Parts: sequence; C-alpha cells; structure tokens
Amino acid sequence: MRNKVFLLVMAAFLMLPTVVKAEAGPEWLKKAVFYQIYPSSYMDSDANGIGDLPGITSKLDYLQSLGITALWLNPIYVSGWQDGGYDVIDFYKVDPRFGTNTDLVNLAEALHQRGMKLCLDLVAGHTSDKNEWFLQSKSGKDLRYSDYYIWTNEITDAEKEQIKRRYEAPDPSASTIGRFVEANAPRAKYYEKNFYESQPALNYGYANPDPNHPWEQPVTAPGPKATRQELKNIMEFWFSKGVDGFRVDLASSLVKNDPDKKEVSKLWQEMRQWRDQNFPDRALIAEWFNPEQSLPAGFDIDFYRIGGRGASAINLFRLNTTNTYGGGNMPKAYFDRAGQGEVKGFVAAFDKTYTNTREVGYLSLPTGNHDSERISQEPRTMQDLKVAMTFLLTLPGAPFIYYGDEIGMKQQFGLPSKEGSNARSGCRTPMQWADNETAGFSTVSVDKLYLPVATENGTITVEAEEKDPNSLLNYVKGLLKLRSQSEALNNDGTWNYVGNTEQPYPMVYRRSSDYEDYIVTLNPSGKKVKTTINAQGASTATVVYSTGKGAYKIQPKGKGDIITLDPCSAIIVKLTGCQQCDDKR
Ligand code: GLC
Repeated sequence: MRNKVFLLVMAAFLMLPTVVKAEAGPEWLKKAVFYQIYPSSYMDSDANGIGDLPGITSKLDYLQSLGITALWLNPIYVSGWQDGGYDVIDFYKVDPRFGTNTDLVNLAEALHQRGMKLCLDLVAGHTSDKNEWFLQSKSGKDLRYSDYYIWTNEITDAEKEQIKRRYEAPDPSASTIGRFVEANAPRAKYYEKNFYESQPALNYGYANPDPNHPWEQPVTAPGPKATRQELKNIMEFWFSKGVDGFRVDLASSLVKNDPDKKEVSKLWQEMRQWRDQNFPDRALIAEWFNPEQSLPAGFDIDFYRIGGRGASAINLFRLNTTNTYGGGNMPKAYFDRAGQGEVKGFVAAFDKTYTNTREVGYLSLPTGNHDSERISQEPRTMQDLKVAMTFLLTLPGAPFIYYGDEIGMKQQFGLPSKEGSNARSGCRTPMQWADNETAGFSTVSVDKLYLPVATENGTITVEAEEKDPNSLLNYVKGLLKLRSQSEALNNDGTWNYVGNTEQPYPMVYRRSSDYEDYIVTLNPSGKKVKTTINAQGASTATVVYSTGKGAYKIQPKGKGDIITLDPCSAIIVKLTGCQQCDDKR
C-alpha cells in the first residue's frame, strides 16, 4: 500500500499517466480451482430424476480428491424453469426441486469444514415474469415494485417487426429475438426483456436516457436506485448464510444504452466498495467476457472468451467450423489432430488481455460451461483431452472445470430442448458416476432422468476412471496437484509465450514465480514436432508431468533449447538454474 502511495505521488510529481488499480480481492482466490455444477444434473438424492443440493453435498469427498477448492452452482432459486433457472421467481428461496435454504446452508458448512468455498449464480439483470415484483409492476404505477421494470406504450416499427419475427420462430417462448414484449398490461403495453419473453429486464436505468423516451429513467432515478439496493440485499442475504461469492449473470448488461459500459462499471465499482467494506473475503465473478472492462469495474474474475464469429476469429477447440455456434466459417481448430490451426491470433489476444489485467484481477478460460458445446466431441479421444486439459489447467488466473469435463463426458447431440435449453441440452446431461442405466446419478428409471446419460458401456464414469491409472480423471487430478504445489503454475504465476508463433505446433509458454520456472509445451497435432526456444539458459530441465513421450534438451548457451513432442502430447518441464530465476533471487 505504502509503495502504491509512493508511486502515485511520484507519478503525479513527474506528470506521468497512472492507472489506479483495484485492491487485490479475497486471498483464497490466489489458489482457487473452481468447479461449475449445473445442479439439476449433478446428483439426485431424492429419486425424482433431477439433481439436488443434498446430492451435491454427498459428493464432496470426490470433489476434494479431484483438487477442487470452490464450487459455482448455476441458479438454485425458485424458478419458472423457462431458462434453466435463469428466470427467478424468488431470489431469497431455494427451489423445492433442489431442497431448502437449510440444505444450502448445510452445503456451505460442509464445504467450509473442508476449506472449500461456495459461489452461487446471481441473475442480476432480470427476473421471471412470474416473480411477484413483476406481477405488481405489471398491475400499475406508483406501487413499491412498479419501477423495477421498464414499461412503455411506444416502440418503433422495427421493434414491432422483431416481435413479429419472434412469433414466427418454432418456439417463441424460447427465442431471444427482439427487445420488447407485448403484454397489454394495466401498467403499459410493452415491457423490455433481456433474453426470453419470460425474463423481463430489471430497471437499473439508462446511461443516456433519450428525452423523447420518458420511460428511459436515469440511473439515479428512484426505481433504478431501489433495484440496485435489492441486488445488494440479495447478496447480503446469501453472504450471511455462508455463501462465498457470486458469478454474476450478464453483468455488463444491467444499465441500458451504455455502449462504453461507463455507467454499469460505476454500478459494479459501488458494489465492489460495499463488498470490500462489509464482506471482504467474498468473491465477485463476472459473466462479462471482457476482463479489460470488468476487472477495473471491481470484479475479481472474468471469463476470457475465445472464438467469436467470422473467419478472423480465433478457434482453439471448435471442430465443426460451420455449425450454428460459430455463426459461419471459422478457421480450423488449434486443438485438433489435423494440425491446421493457428496460434498467432490467440497468443496476441491473450497476451494483451492478460498483460492489461493481471494486476487487477484474474481471467479464466473455462473448460466448458452450461451454454457451450463440451470440448469432448468426436473424434477427440481421451488422449486429445489430456492435451487440452494440460493447456486449460496451466494458464494463469482461476481455472474453472465444468462438471464432467474431468472425465471426458461427451457432448450429446440431437437432444430435445429442456427447460429453455435449446441446443444447450447436450452439455447439461447428468453427471456419470457409475456403470448402470442411470450412470449412478439417480435411482429412477431411465425414462425419468432429467436428460439421458451416455457412458459408453460404463467407461466414461467416475467409477471406471478412478480405477484406471491412465484415465483422464487421474491425469486431471495429477495436474491439479502439481498446480497446487507450485507458485509458478498457480493463479498468480506469470505467463509468457516463448514459442515461435509462426510455427503453430507446439504451443510453448513459460510460467514463473520468484523462485520457480516451468515450460509448458503442447502438441495437439497428429504429427511429431520439434522446435527450438529461447528459455534463457537453464542448467537443468526435468519433465515433471506429461501425457506420454516428449523431450526437452538444454543446449549450450545462446543456441536455444530443443523440444521434441510425439503426436498429440504435452509435457511440463521444470527449469532450474536459469538466468531469469537467478536474477530474481
Ligand atoms: C447467461 C446464462 C445463460 C442464460 C442467460 C440469460 O448467459 O449463462 O444460461 O440463458 O444468461 O439469463
């Protein structure tokens, strides 16, 4: 702190531009390894085919043995189940399908006894249209919740056209098209939605209210201020029950007409200050997908988005480059045996974001999530997934493992939409524990399962993989153990790309701390590769973790070090006696 004051004074004196960085977040984030659970699909303890909180609590031995330190649960609140729990009817109550508030407290306590943490999903931007706030708001002006939502009698012709198009969709209730919903309510004709029709947007105000649109309230108006207070109340309610943090759904979208995100950033800075003063050890994780905005706005962690649309997009994992997720032709995936991917674009983009944010918070490149295809799709094998996991679990920032990715659970295609999932059903199937018809997830008959399981004759299950020393599960466990024991490989260790970006395979980067240096090398391609890197003259190089064969050879000073990797392999090398670490000591 004293250093920071000194630097600021010096900068002011020298008239240098200075960036005031946010204070560090909770200490436990330095070593946090998150695990995301879609609660309907993790473990069913009451034989109704749907997962629940006591089910999760019964699996903590497993999660601890894997090396997990924190959970993030998708929404567990009373919901209308039109969007997998993201349409909340009561923010202060656990949905009966998952148990009770007491079950949630019990889960938090059981986690805390193991030194683990519990984070929930905060659906900050909208509610269900069955939420009592909305029902009241719909019924008239000047009531307590009237201005929690955005109502208007006038919308443009283009906006009316969007409503029409939504009604032409096969299932309008699960279509995101358009901005307004025609409600013809006593309050007004239309309300603004966020995602589906059943998800009316909460009113946090407009950054630049249009004087011709009287329904666009400034962020300081009483309605938006009350909504903001409600958000704090929700967080405080669950913090006081032992919850350790929130992943905030659609965090960047709360304030409307805020193109540069200035007003929504101010909102989160206010929340951050409040958090720091009252609950300094609780974490704020953004679903913003722009760490350069979200971390200075006060979040501790944000997700780093790879990919995007169009031919110039970076593609690490997407094998089907023409499917709907990609939105068109994408470049070939980097993690593919075909070996036709590029690494240049990823390195440039990641390096920029990482460099700009590393002192403000953590970024995370998750293994998957409840909205995306799992990386385990055909023809990827367990060997390919080991290489991919080596990458995802040796990056700086906080790792997030999506449930089931640690055992290589497959993306399932062609499933029906479930509770508003559309194509997302394929990554929300029940966790596969054991070799039986329901994969040990539930005792109901198969036809009553939340979604089908696909264990491939019991091979893709926790039970089978625990027994197999060469399984993906045991590989991931070992990787997380190595990460937890090393400062350099942990969340705060620095990251530098040291490979040749013109030669995409292998990918080579260095992770360092004051006292340790590691080189991570990855060859997802189906060909043997060899490259020379400048690792600044270490005296010894030891392979400490690998998927199979590979070698790291130190050459006499100045000549660079030689790496050779077998097809589809990864090695992690520990360097000692190198110039860089000696300088630091
Ligand atoms: C977020 C969630 C997604 C949900 C949407 C609307 O993007 O991750 O599952 O459908 O918000 O709440």
